[in-house]
Order: sequence, then C-alpha cells, then structure tokens
Amino acid sequence: MRTSARRLDRYPAIGDLQELAQRRVPYFAWEYLECGTGREEALARNEAALSRRSLVPRFFRGEVVPRIETELFGRDYAMPIGVAPIGMAGLVWPGSEAMLANMAGSRAIPFCLSTVAAETPEIVGSLARGNGWFQLYPARRKAIRDDLIARARDSGFSVLVLTADVPAPSVRERQKRAGLTVPPRKDLLFWWRILRRPAWTVATLRRGEPRFLALEKYVTTEEMREQSRFFGEALGGSLDWDYLGEVRRAWDGPLVVKGILGPEDARQAVERGADGIWVSNHGGRQFDGAPAAIDCLGRVADTVGDKTKLLFDSGVRGGLDIVRALHEGANFVFAGRPFLYGVSALGEAGAAHVADLFFADLKNAMTQLGCCELTDIAALDRGPADYRISPGNQSDSGG
Ligand SMILES: Cc1cc2nc3c(=O)[nH]c(=O)nc-3n(C[C@H](O)[C@H](O)[C@H](O)COP(=O)(O)O)c2cc1C
Repeated sequence: MRTSARRLDRYPAIGDLQELAQRRVPYFAWEYLECGTGREEALARNEAALSRRSLVPRFFRGEVVPRIETELFGRDYAMPIGVAPIGMAGLVWPGSEAMLANMAGSRAIPFCLSTVAAETPEIVGSLARGNGWFQLYPARRKAIRDDLIARARDSGFSVLVLTADVPAPSVRERQKRAGLTVPPRKDLLFWWRILRRPAWTVATLRRGEPRFLALEKYVTTEEMREQSRFFGEALGGSLDWDYLGEVRRAWDGPLVVKGILGPEDARQAVERGADGIWVSNHGGRQFDGAPAAIDCLGRVADTVGDKTKLLFDSGVRGGLDIVRALHEGANFVFAGRPFLYGVSALGEAGAAHVADLFFADLKNAMTQLGCCELTDIAALDRGPADYRISPGNQSDSGG
C-alpha cells in the first residue's frame, strides 16, 4: 500500500493511528494487543507515572539543534527507540513482523523479533539488515533453546534478549472475554467479527492463518492441537541464574535481560554477564501488582547504570516519554503497541510513520528543553511538583 505524505499528515500523533487501527483489526485481535492483566492497574500505572514526570526547560543556549543518533552494542542507530517484541504480531495485522523488520532496516532502528512470532527468524533477520534483535523465552527443552540461539545467530540477529518476566502465562481477562483462543474457535461470532474487518480478512486470506512459525519445527502434531498450552509449558517457568549463565555461554554477542524491575535482579544479571538490562513490566500484561516500569528505572540505574546498558519500555507513546526515560537513566527506549498501531492502520508506511513521529517529537522535546545532545537530558531538573510526589525521590537517586 502506497501512502501519500498528505494522508500521513492526517495522523499527527500515535493516538490517531491507534484509532484507525482499532477500526481495521477484528475485536479479538484488538483485545489481544490492547489488554493488560487483572484490573489493568499496572497498565494505567505506566501511563500515569510517565505523565507525572515534567522537566524544566533551559533557555539562552543559542540555536539548539538536537543530535539523536545513538550507538548501542557497537551499532549506530538513527535514534534511541526500537520496536519491542510482540508475540503473534501477525494476528493483529497479517505480515506485521516482516513489515516491521523492513521498516527497522530502512529507518535504522532495532526491531526485536519474539520467540512466538508469526514469522521465522530466517526471513526477519535478512529484512532487518543487521538491526534485528532476537527475543528468547526460556525454553525448558535446552535443545530447542540452543537451536533458536543458533538460528538467531545464523540469521544475522545482532542482539539476544532473554525475557525474564513470564514465570507463567498471565491471565488476560479481556482476551478471554473476547473469545480469543489458540487455535481460534471458529464459531458464528468469530466469522461475524472478521467479516466486519474486510481489509484484515483479505490480508489474512492472502498470507494464510497466522502460525507460530519460529517454533513449528519443534512441535509434534499431537502438541500442535493444544498449541497455547504447549507453548505456555514449554517456554517458561524454569528460569534461574544457571540458565542465564548457559545462555551467556551459548551466545557470544550482546545479551540483554528483559523484564527486570528490581535492582538486585539487575545486579545479579550483570554479574552473570548480561550486557544490557531492559527495565519493563511487559506493558502491564504480566502482573497487575507490578510498579510502573518508569518508577523502577532510577533505582536500577543507581545500582548498575555504570556497568551496563539500560533499556526501557512500558507506556512510551511519544518523544517526550523517550526523554523522560533517558532522564531516569535509560540508554535506549522501546515501544510495543505503538508500532502495531502504525502497521495495522497503514501497513509498513504506518510503522515508518510511527518511527518518524518519534523522531520529530524527540527532536522537538529536546529543542524545547535546550538539549543538543541526548546526554544533556540527564542534567535537566524535574518539575517542582514531581519532586514532592515522586517515589523516585525517596531514594538517594534524586530521580
Ligand atoms: C500483544 C503483545 C505481545 C507481546 N509479546 C511479547 C513477547 O512475545 N515477548 C516479550 O518479551 N514481550 C512481549 N510483549 C511485551 C513487549 O515487548 C513490551 O514490553 C511492551 O509492549 C511495552 O509496552 P508498550 O506496549 O506500552 O510499549 C508483548 C506485548 C504486547 C502488547
């Protein structure tokens, strides 16, 4: 789909793409993307904690021309934002993984492919042109784990991300209410819902039903019938520090541990060889009692910020949120749902539009704040009201 610049101008914010995407994606797939867990308090907490953080601009700095290119793990990126791993992105919009990988290659930002993707690492690796990262769920069968790591390496992925925050599949009440099952239950309601979304339906018919393509080779026909239970049991629940050590030995490139909220976990992960710590509460999807990820970042930065790279996600919806995370100590930031809004709304051009919105918004925020370099952001002062209410200020981090 070719999308003109004039058409893109009609969507000046990520929220506009979200609205359009909701009108194009069937209800059960939309609920899968949007939901949190439980009463969705963690989801709300992420947003509230980010928006609570204000920053005091500095003026009299002459012409401010922000430079936002960033080096991470030996690679140059156009800006400090990437695409977080989204399992079954191909269910939300057919072919998402390939379009996102291609977009990441052209926009020079990282794209992290999920273990439970609807595309193979072999295809995504070549499309992402070195900007591909591979996210690994801790497979119980070590032969599967080691094969996935070998495939990631052979397919040109530059960074391995081990996700720690899924000790068990979470309860997704909204998903259940929407009737989403794997494999799908094709009742009347299912057909009614997809027929009301013709563009999605046509795209799905063209590509075929989304499948766990990276994992299919490890699953027997018997297990295939109960895919979701199989993957739930096969991919988690056994992670410990020895496991991290084994992954470290099997992968000789940069290794990141994702889903860390506590400074002690961060410290141990770094001690055992992690090159990066990805502070995240899984976008509020795993544990409803989890703190907002941004509220955890400062303490993790105090503990390991000088020994490792700090990555952050959960609730990032614009350039200002990138600035907020960098101010708390992050080196690099990721977003999950926003890129899926873009791709579902307008295909690959929509995903690129999301990247462009982040790009322009980050530059604008830095100009408003008087920052030419990303490293200038750390020295900014927080708004006075935030100093009184932020939990970050109770520690000696000073926020
Ligand atoms: C639909 C969906 C599927 C996800 N699947 C994975 C996954 O397979 N692996 C993983 O590590 N994180 C997964 N996540 C979490 C994201 O990588 C990321 O942490 C989260 O989306 C960040 O929050 P945001 O959506 O508010 O940006 C998923 C998130 C969503 C919304």
